[in-house]
Amino acid sequence: MGKEKILIEKARVARELSVSPYSRFLIGAAVQTKDGKIFTGCNIESSSYGLTVCAERVAIYKAISEGEREFVSIAIVADTEPLTPPCGACRQVIWDLCGDIPVLLANLNNEKQVLQMRKLYAHAFDEKFLIEPHRKE
Ligand code: THU
Repeated sequence: MGKEKILIEKARVARELSVSPYSRFLIGAAVQTKDGKIFTGCNIESSSYGLTVCAERVAIYKAISEGEREFVSIAIVADTEPLTPPCGACRQVIWDLCGDIPVLLANLNNEKQVLQMRKLYAHAFDEKFLIEPHRKE
């Protein structure tokens, strides 16, 4: 199996672990590190809805908290057509912590699509704006 397929398969399996009793919208994600490790995540919902965390952020935060800092791609699996892209909050987090990586979207019907982060999150806010020369005061 190719690297892309393995990553998507890991995200598909992670999706099964989704805790989403309120939306019943199951999502899985898998992020790959530069040295080939894979960290997975699923969405986890709270009865206080706003505390819900997306699958992408769970996967990335798991990797970060294990010391990983360099990522090469992320896969996201949901059972939708068209394919589900990462939400705005996750785009910010992927951009901040993973940079301009390819995002592999897939569903349960073997449909997939690859989107590059710089296109998915055009005109991104990031750390550059917090320092000179971008910052003026
Ligand atoms: N969700 C994700 O896990 N990732 C996304 O990028 C979009 C939304 C989850 C959050 C919530 O549990 C459910 O999908 C419906 O919004």
